[in-house]
Amino acid sequence: MANRRILSGMRATNPRLHLGNYEGALRNWVEMQNDGFDMFCMVADWHGLTTMYEDSAEISRNAREVAKDYIAAGIDPEKSALFIQSHVKEHAELHLLFSMITPLGWLERTPTYKEKQQDLGTTEREPYGLLGYPVLQTADILLYKPYGVPVGRDQAPHLEIGNDIAARFNRLYGVEVFQPYKYLIPEDENRAKVPGLDADENGVLRKMSKSYDNCIYLSATPDEIAEHIKKAFTTPTKLRKTDPGVPEGCAVCQYLKLYSPDWQRQWDEDRAGERGCMQSKKELTEILVEFLRPFRERRAQFDDGSIEEILAKGAEKAREVASATMSEVRAAMGIY
Ligand code: TRP
Repeated sequence: MANRRILSGMRATNPRLHLGNYEGALRNWVEMQNDGFDMFCMVADWHGLTTMYEDSAEISRNAREVAKDYIAAGIDPEKSALFIQSHVKEHAELHLLFSMITPLGWLERTPTYKEKQQDLGTTEREPYGLLGYPVLQTADILLYKPYGVPVGRDQAPHLEIGNDIAARFNRLYGVEVFQPYKYLIPEDENRAKVPGLDADENGVLRKMSKSYDNCIYLSATPDEIAEHIKKAFTTPTKLRKTDPGVPEGCAVCQYLKLYSPDWQRQWDEDRAGERGCMQSKKELTEILVEFLRPFRERRAQFDDGSIEEILAKGAEKAREVASATMSEVRAAMGIY
């Protein structure tokens, strides 16, 4: 495989990434980096503006924290380019050019757009940039001409538009500037969709999300982890140790399945009324505190000054590739 370049990113709407972000995408990035892929790991601050334009400065602060979480999770800035989207202006230029060749219908049909539109309520509150979200994402990707883009399954509609825009560009200007890239979506669906610690009003586990306040953050201290797990949802009818549990519907048991080598025995005991929820919570806490230990250790190794340096170096590396692509794009379109 000649092209080993990979690009991916996350929006900077929250300052802390959680286990769901890790299992859904970051874990894959780290594995690919360690397999020798040439990684470009971006923090998408401009994309954050589509929903948080009133809190623009907050996005900038979040972006630094997200970059720290990337490193904490194992992204090595010596190996991978770690950068903030807005530091590489080529993203804005390519976005503008793509916005001219992207049919409106493609964007209006995007399921993520329809969802966000509903959340906002009225079109008066809906920024123009929200519709163009996948166009900006396409620019992010194609600037690096990657072999593939590792993301969570929710991003698939955006990736499809990206390959469609690439094909349309090539066709319109008669040059093969862009090759199709692969969607690298985690194969292990169960792991990728780690549930939150709570359940909805019907007692069904739901996804991990800041808005539900059901997260385990990658930067959580051991005390925070313990406190969160203490409140986690378990079998509602299991009041005593001897009551039978239903591990399939219990958040703590779901985590044991993902992170405990001994989960099968723990599940059997839960079902048989041979273990209490307190014991499972205690064991899970120990396991997750250990799992996140290297994250905490890596995070403790750098301060705010060193993160700025890392981001400046990352942007420089990104710009080298991005500006070469822009030269090709301008030449293909005949815009000088
Ligand atoms: N839309 C992605 C998300 O919500 C973030 C993103 C922006 C991205 N640009 C990208 C992901 C390019 C992959 C490639 O997390």
